[in-house]
Amino acid sequence: MRVFHLSAECYPVAKVGGLADVVGALPKYQNQLGWQAAVVMPYYERKFVQENEFDIVFAASTLLGTRRLFFEILKEKTDKLGFELFLIRIPGLIDRTEVYQYPDETEQFVAFQIAFLDWISYSQQSPDVIHCHDHHTGLVPFLLQCSRLYTRLANTPTVFTIHNGQYHGAFGWDKLSYLPEIDLSKTGLLDWAGAINPLATAVKCCWRYTTVSPTYLHELSISSNGLEFLFHMESSKGVGILNGIDTAVWNPKTDPMLPAKFDVKTFVKGKQANKQLLCERFNLSPEAPLIVFIGRLVGEKGADLIATAMEESFNEHPGQFNFLALGAGEKENETELIELRDFYPEQCAVFIGYDEPLAHLIYAGADFLLMPSRVEPCGLNQLYSLRYGTVPIVRNTGGLHDSVIDFGDEGGYGIRFNHASVEDICTSVTRAIALYNNTKHLNTLRKLMMGLDFSWDRSANRYITLYESLNPTI
Ligand code: ADP
Ligand code: GLC
Repeated sequence: MRVFHLSAECYPVAKVGGLADVVGALPKYQNQLGWQAAVVMPYYERKFVQENEFDIVFAASTLLGTRRLFFEILKEKTDKLGFELFLIRIPGLIDRTEVYQYPDETEQFVAFQIAFLDWISYSQQSPDVIHCHDHHTGLVPFLLQCSRLYTRLANTPTVFTIHNGQYHGAFGWDKLSYLPEIDLSKTGLLDWAGAINPLATAVKCCWRYTTVSPTYLHELSISSNGLEFLFHMESSKGVGILNGIDTAVWNPKTDPMLPAKFDVKTFVKGKQANKQLLCERFNLSPEAPLIVFIGRLVGEKGADLIATAMEESFNEHPGQFNFLALGAGEKENETELIELRDFYPEQCAVFIGYDEPLAHLIYAGADFLLMPSRVEPCGLNQLYSLRYGTVPIVRNTGGLHDSVIDFGDEGGYGIRFNHASVEDICTSVTRAIALYNNTKHLNTLRKLMMGLDFSWDRSANRYITLYESLNPTI
């Protein structure tokens, strides 16, 4: 049985956030379960493509409105990622270094989707399922049903996974002509609030949509940037499946990015050794508890609350804890953190930018990982931190709610708070310091969290069951 995953990101080819981690892992695990899963993504001029070999397996041209585009499908030669990887290259449009934030992003992703459909259509492929991820691929379920060019594939089940419902990819009706030969009586399916809205279109047209945690499924009908009513109406098609983590990549016992490896038996020494190196690098004392933040510095992640909360906590607990942030995002948030570091250089360190090896070292060397997210569809950071024996401090929302139990509750191991507010973060910091000072309790919790199973072994099967439910002949 064959499934194509369509996505803008895939680790290690091109990663901006958790979408890449999921698309780089789920297909691998599905292959282990007997499916033939492949990933199709745009071509980015990055390290992975430069360092690996590809065959051109298909080349053709297509139309984006009146603009003729030549495209190629490149296949990675060795399947070394554990699945077939296909890249769509369109010279002049999809052959750049960055994943997002080009002014012609609409053109890029619409062209990507058309090229994908043209390719599988002309080359007579018949996947059993097409699995689309986020709004960048949201027009595919519509085009399969409503463009006469793809009628051969119209009965192919489509699954649409929402990793982030805040971004819709909406664009104006003046760009309707980008879509190839569609049935004009069906254009209502494209519309939401007077624009073409790929996320809304996907939810309307896909066979099933999934969210990356069960709680987020429920939250979308309460808050989704204007799509609440749609999610309410379509709720019978929605399924919440908690993401897993790739335990081959995220394993403190084998992680090549860690200077000191450790497991559930050796974590006390192992974590301390990593902490020592991390603190040396950032000029922090390794004795005090180390609270960290890793992630996009945006409002969704509560990044605007962090500097104020840390300042208040530094004043309340002078010299009693350190804070380290790794991330990039909105300028105001970056500036606030840099100012905080300049004001408290002995307690605070900040790295603005993206650094995968440093992230691994931080998960391993930190004592606590803070996630004050306003919205968190799943969140992978807390899952990595659990596996690396770092206590997550999370706001009670989305996937954070589904994966972290407060240590004050039965079977708990993390710190959970209810409001995305400075006050709740400060209270959690106070609790973290107290927990750190009770070494025995802290180590019991670390042992417990490192033994939890949040791997894809658990969740990959749920997607397979979903696929099978859509196609009784499978
Ligand atoms: P999101 O996808 O919303 O950003 P997730 O928690 O799902 O959040 O995933 C974030 C992923 O990106 C994790 O793998 C995390 O380690 C990584 N990450 C985020 N920011 C950085 C950064 N500045 N440097 C290195 N890795 C980062
Ligand atoms: C999105 C979400 C994040 C989730 C990730 C992978 O980026 O913001 O919560 O973990 O996708 O599904």
